[in-house]
Amino acid sequence: MAQVAFPSGFLWGAATSSYQIEGAWKEDQKGESIWDRFTHTPGKVDRDENGDVACDHYHQLFEDVALMKEIGLTSYRFSISWPRIQPTGKGKLNRAGLDFYDRLIDELLMADIRPLPTLYHWDLPQALEDTGGWENRDVAGCFADYAAEIAKALGDRLSVCTIFNEPWIFTALGYLSGTHAPGKQGFGHFARAAHTVCLAQGDAFRAMKAAKPRIELGTAFSMSHCEPASDTGSDREAAERYHRFINAFFLEPALLGRYPDAFLSGLPAQEMEIKPGDLLRCRADFDFIGINLYTRTLVAAAPDNPHLGAEPGGRREGPLTDMGWEVWPSALHDMIMRITRDYNAPVIEVTENGCAYADGPDKFGRVKDDQRIEYHRGYIAGVARAIEQGARVRAYHAWSLMDNFEWAHGYSKRFGLIHVDFETLERRLKDSARWYAQLIRRNGFEY
Ligand code: FCB
Repeated sequence: MAQVAFPSGFLWGAATSSYQIEGAWKEDQKGESIWDRFTHTPGKVDRDENGDVACDHYHQLFEDVALMKEIGLTSYRFSISWPRIQPTGKGKLNRAGLDFYDRLIDELLMADIRPLPTLYHWDLPQALEDTGGWENRDVAGCFADYAAEIAKALGDRLSVCTIFNEPWIFTALGYLSGTHAPGKQGFGHFARAAHTVCLAQGDAFRAMKAAKPRIELGTAFSMSHCEPASDTGSDREAAERYHRFINAFFLEPALLGRYPDAFLSGLPAQEMEIKPGDLLRCRADFDFIGINLYTRTLVAAAPDNPHLGAEPGGRREGPLTDMGWEVWPSALHDMIMRITRDYNAPVIEVTENGCAYADGPDKFGRVKDDQRIEYHRGYIAGVARAIEQGARVRAYHAWSLMDNFEWAHGYSKRFGLIHVDFETLERRLKDSARWYAQLIRRNGFEY
């Protein structure tokens, strides 16, 4: 056993998102979002579940912040629901919606917890989707206006903010495979949406900096360390292309003003509808990079795949969580080191990391989620190693603070440190929450 220790001031957090926990889907003049529309369409989500009530966090925010304090969190990552603030995605702000986030931020600051809001965790106002959603370039401008309004309204109490949550996931699943809202399918939809999101990322960055220069900005990127399925040259090249596509596609336009070379036949610039001057508009000199990482991805050459010539494949070796994701602790360390090497050692926050297991209370009311503890131990030990090797990681956020609505899987996948009974909405700290509390008190653990 060795001591895994963290630098003093390291931030220990947990993450959630608006649609997954808030409920109150049409209260206080909130507008409809694409996730409201998607989940209310039969056949889109397992058991046709939806986030109408979710964890009812909208009404239980004080109790929930008290639980965060009990665990000892020093950072809380949550998202702001755009249609709560602007019911149709533009125009006048909805005071009641803003008040909710006002109360949340005040309550967090009073509990000595750093608020880390995300401007967009997938709940686009449906009214904007009706104009083409992220495929419509005008939506980038709407998003920048919304970002500026948030900075003006809440920015006096924010030191930090993430612009997007997982641009790759919400464009690939929402516009390519169609398994997430708005449920569109096709490479053209994806290509257009992806480029608008990159424009929006740059526009929102500048709009927020203009309104409140002090707020540190980043995006929480979905990342998965890509490893070749075999040692052949073709699998190695495939893994590299796959990395550029899933990990770097939304990051490099911001940092470097260009898209990475991921596709076999070059960038589909026509399908993306890239115009002169666009790449400059995509630039955003982030103050930090957010990494959301759950697992590694093994990649094999796939000659039939027309765009990438690569696909996930190969034999997984680690145990699988309820999502079917392989537990592979070194993936987080390796990903952090790759970002550190490739982009000149940026400041990094782990903005999500966690696992789904269907654990529930025993007859004494205790939730013994040893597998979750084991998962976090392994990945967090990797973060400590990365810091020793020079990575500038300053925060770790467990996904998630509490069990919640896991998108197309509904309520079946429990990621929380806190167990939620979805009938009674009762919250209960799992063993993992108690273990995390101890880790936070000691700023480390035995491994
Ligand atoms: C990420 C999402 C988050 C949650 C986890 C399990 O892709 O950002 O909302 O669903 O996966």
